[in-house]
Amino acid sequence: MSGKQTKAQQIRAISKVGDFVDIPLKTSQKILARITDGIYRQPASALRELISNAYDADAKKVTIKTDAPRFEQISVKDDGIGISPEALQHLIENIGGSAKRTDTGKSLNITSDNSQYSPSGRKLIGKMGIGLFAVAQFTRHFLIVTKCKGDDFRTVADVTLGEIKKAVEGLGPDEITSGEARVWTERASNVNSHGTEVKLLDLLPRTRAELCSLDRWTRIDFEIETEGKPQSDPPVFHIGRMDPQAKGELKDQPALPWDTKDQPEVKFDKFVESVRRLAKTDRELVDLESVCDNYLQMIWELALACPLDYVNTHPFDLPKDKTTLFFQLENKVRAQATDMELAAKQTSREKLNLQAPLRPISDEFELFIDGIRLSRPIVFTKQPKTAIAIKTPLLFVGKCREEFDGKPISMSRGPLEFEAYLFWTPRVLPKQHQGVLLRVGNAAGASFDRTFMDYTVSEQTRLRQLTAEIFVLEGLDDAINLDRESYNYAHPHYQFLVKWLHSAIRQFANRHKAVGKTLREDNREQCNEETKQSIARAVSRKLADVGVDDVVIVEFIEETLLESVEGKRDEGIVAFRKDTIFATGTNGGATRLKQTDVNEQKAAALTQLLYGWGLLDDLSYEDQARLVRDILEVVLVESLQ
Ligand SMILES: Nc1ncnc2c1ncn2[C@@H]1O[C@H](COP(=O)(O)OP(=O)(O)OP(=O)(O)O)[C@@H](O)[C@H]1O
Ligand SMILES: [Mg+2]
Repeated sequence: MSGKQTKAQQIRAISKVGDFVDIPLKTSQKILARITDGIYRQPASALRELISNAYDADAKKVTIKTDAPRFEQISVKDDGIGISPEALQHLIENIGGSAKRTDTGKSLNITSDNSQYSPSGRKLIGKMGIGLFAVAQFTRHFLIVTKCKGDDFRTVADVTLGEIKKAVEGLGPDEITSGEARVWTERASNVNSHGTEVKLLDLLPRTRAELCSLDRWTRIDFEIETEGKPQSDPPVFHIGRMDPQAKGELKDQPALPWDTKDQPEVKFDKFVESVRRLAKTDRELVDLESVCDNYLQMIWELALACPLDYVNTHPFDLPKDKTTLFFQLENKVRAQATDMELAAKQTSREKLNLQAPLRPISDEFELFIDGIRLSRPIVFTKQPKTAIAIKTPLLFVGKCREEFDGKPISMSRGPLEFEAYLFWTPRVLPKQHQGVLLRVGNAAGASFDRTFMDYTVSEQTRLRQLTAEIFVLEGLDDAINLDRESYNYAHPHYQFLVKWLHSAIRQFANRHKAVGKTLREDNREQCNEETKQSIARAVSRKLADVGVDDVVIVEFIEETLLESVEGKRDEGIVAFRKDTIFATGTNGGATRLKQTDVNEQKAAALTQLLYGWGLLDDLSYEDQARLVRDILEVVLVESLQ
């Protein structure tokens, strides 16, 4: 390279306004095909990549601004380490060949000495070197404006994606160009500032249509035109929409669950609360797809996927109290979950020494979109009320480390370590939170897998009441597919997770059944006890009304050698043999009255009343028993055997 400057050196050497360096984007054809085919399903996925890059660059704050509901431009700005001319050259010339997790990354200062971690020690999300180009989902034209600490200039790269007609020098036989970056520098007055902004310009029509929820509004307009009123419901919450006829004017004002004056975090809290509150009026589960427009759904999806805190608490930090039942998942085959013994206010994190999300609390990472501060919208407290027996949520927590002992590394791909929870609640809100979400390090797929990794046993109702997350601390990394939303199912780590999860679900289902049964029994007992007490109270009151304060004691006994009716009577108790009042096991006796605690109390009450009124005084014990029995048989006809 003697005498010839690298592109990075040329960028650094720019001294005049108007000078620039052109760098063709280089990629192997296979990668390009993937990117331009749209490996990502949703605009949220592309934004997620930019946010992940900011996270990897040690940003503390990411600010996304859109011009909603117009959606012509989006900008994603962070306060991370910035991109040096060298790193910029590398990324433009090595699409599909990330410097992260490599020695090159170390020499470019984009990783720490351990190349798996960011300079400040965050576990890196990026590894492929294509994430940035997910913006192809949005646009063919974007700007990167970036600055590193200590530099007196900022670098601007104006990137155009697409075929380049002119011949490009220095292209290898397997490489093709997929666009071009025109790079220049600008003076920066604050040497200490740092960060990166990606400005997505001229958004593609299909992306704009998607972000504007065009399909849905068009359908509603059509229904109004043809039928006089909409057949389908408009979204409850939406960002409003532009009038296609009148340029620059709104056709519908936004209907947002927050006030424009609210603080950024209050806005998001209100959003989550409002969606959950719909459960009160909506007998079905709340479905985000119908209650929110695409823009708000995108915000929700990002909030779920990004390495953020939870709206209230991380499930591992829920303190022991009366509102949740805690269980510990076991790793052994055919094991059963056990009750987690927690001291008051103790958390499962403390008890099991849990590590997820592997990020010190002091390591802040905030994400703002159009003035809303996002958090993970999964809520573990204040569950909606229901009529079913189990009123408290159940939280199952487990952790596992598998070394795959005895298997060569080529088969096992090294150790796998993860922590997980299964949260059962009568109604999962919204519906989109049913299923299991896999988080590898700090990255995440965008959505919950409602099949629970193809759990086949039919536990339909129970599974619909379950939200689960698996936090992978080590391993699984190379099973993630390019779209970061699906996995290579054949990978041994994935296979292991499937087995573990399915065992965890069985443990959960068994415990859930048992808890339900105990609760129903307790409930019944409690009801009986209450009924018995109110019968006893009624008798005292009624007799007091007629001036009798002394209520006789009545007992129904099964005679044994030690206990006889006569003996009891000698003690002053009004005693009868049980079988003179209630049916015996053989059912051949004089009565068909079923013996239950409540019936026994009623028989006693009746006897007490009759005694109180003096009506039994002239009768033999035998006749007394018979009268009591006959009255009860008539009154409790429905209780006869
Ligand atoms: N916001 C940013 N701040 C600093 N550097 C960035 C930023 N965005 C991108 N980069 C640089 O651009 C490179 C390419 O980003 P890209 O997302 O395409 O790949 P990656 O993050 O390395 O891997 P992956 O494809 O798995 O995300 C990164 O390795 C990083 O050096
Ligand atoms: Mg990336």
